[in-house]
Amino acid sequence: MTKAPTKKLLRALAGEAQATPPIWMMRQAGRYLPEYRATRAEAGDFLSLCYNSDLAAEVTLQPIRRYGFDAAILFADILLIPEALGADLWFVTGEGPRLSKIKDMSGVQALKGRDDIHDHLAPIYETLRILKTELPAETALIGFAGAPWTVATYMIAGQGTPDQAPAHKLRVENPEAFDALMKILTQATIEYLSMQIRAGAETVKLFDSWAGSLKGDAFQKYALEPAREIITALKSRHPDVPIIAFPREAGDAYVGFAKATGADCVALDNSVSATWAAKHVQKDGCVQGNLKSTHMVTGGQALVDDTRAIVEALRGGPHIFNLGHGITPDADPENVQLMIDTVRSA
Ligand code: CP3
Repeated sequence: MTKAPTKKLLRALAGEAQATPPIWMMRQAGRYLPEYRATRAEAGDFLSLCYNSDLAAEVTLQPIRRYGFDAAILFADILLIPEALGADLWFVTGEGPRLSKIKDMSGVQALKGRDDIHDHLAPIYETLRILKTELPAETALIGFAGAPWTVATYMIAGQGTPDQAPAHKLRVENPEAFDALMKILTQATIEYLSMQIRAGAETVKLFDSWAGSLKGDAFQKYALEPAREIITALKSRHPDVPIIAFPREAGDAYVGFAKATGADCVALDNSVSATWAAKHVQKDGCVQGNLKSTHMVTGGQALVDDTRAIVEALRGGPHIFNLGHGITPDADPENVQLMIDTVRSA
């Protein structure tokens, strides 16, 4: 039998309701922190920072030192997988990521296989090994990957898109090529996350940031089914490692998502209310979320009130406090402290 976990985050993932929920924050290592901006400048640029294991570990630790979050999330990006598969990737300052585009089956066939990604991703595994030795004993270590649909939307459009139209077009007009891409991404993600676990990740999170643009059958096929496949494969290799799924803006499709995929926790964006989630989602297990990230910019009593309301609504079951999406560069570091103090004294 495995030992019951002692870290607060892992206890929540094991299904324990706690008087004070564990807390961490999406993009907690990021541009709102002056120490992050300094280390990024030292690395040169964002991608160089991701592949520099010592500096990536350093920025992962910065928010832990400053705030004492209950978990650290590996510093990397969901777009490193396409790069490992052979896509070109670069970041345009002030605009975001750019990639070489997948247009058809020949583009998919030019990608590498799932076993050929590890050389490229070796620095990421090294970051986890460093973190494992450097983190405080009470801090959990989270690994992550993008879900196949979200990663595919960037690979097909060659950049971020408001409505993911190019990916929807390919899945409708050339389903063979689209399905082949989804299969490669699903298999690569399993291998990538499995290696992250072997390197020290105690839980992994699957980010499906654009799941909300899939509706009905398409949601089942391209958000739920790949998550189920990835989670099933990881559970057979690492039965004791909990998994967090984030089908962002899934709305009503959050209901039953954990059961259908085998996820131990479902992360909620802030478009659903915490009271609704307590009733319909938390009944199946742990939930994570879901404070509006704009509170990190505006602060004040509204931040305190909304934070308390979320803690209160989800107190009856396992809950990990977090934002509904990543913190933005214009956030005030003092508002993060106010959120943490509010959660820990609620
Ligand atoms: O949460 C964390 O602190 C861990 C590290 C992490 C990053 N990106 C670092 C990052 C994680 C988990 C991600 C996930 C990610 N990356 C997602 C899914 C989550 C989400 O936000 O929806 C997506 C869609 C990406 C792709 C990506 N990376 C975009 C669209 C951008 C540009 C947006 C921006 O803020 O400039 C990035 C860059 C990025 N990834 C930054 C960070 C800290 C900013 C880079 C910088 O320092 O300039």
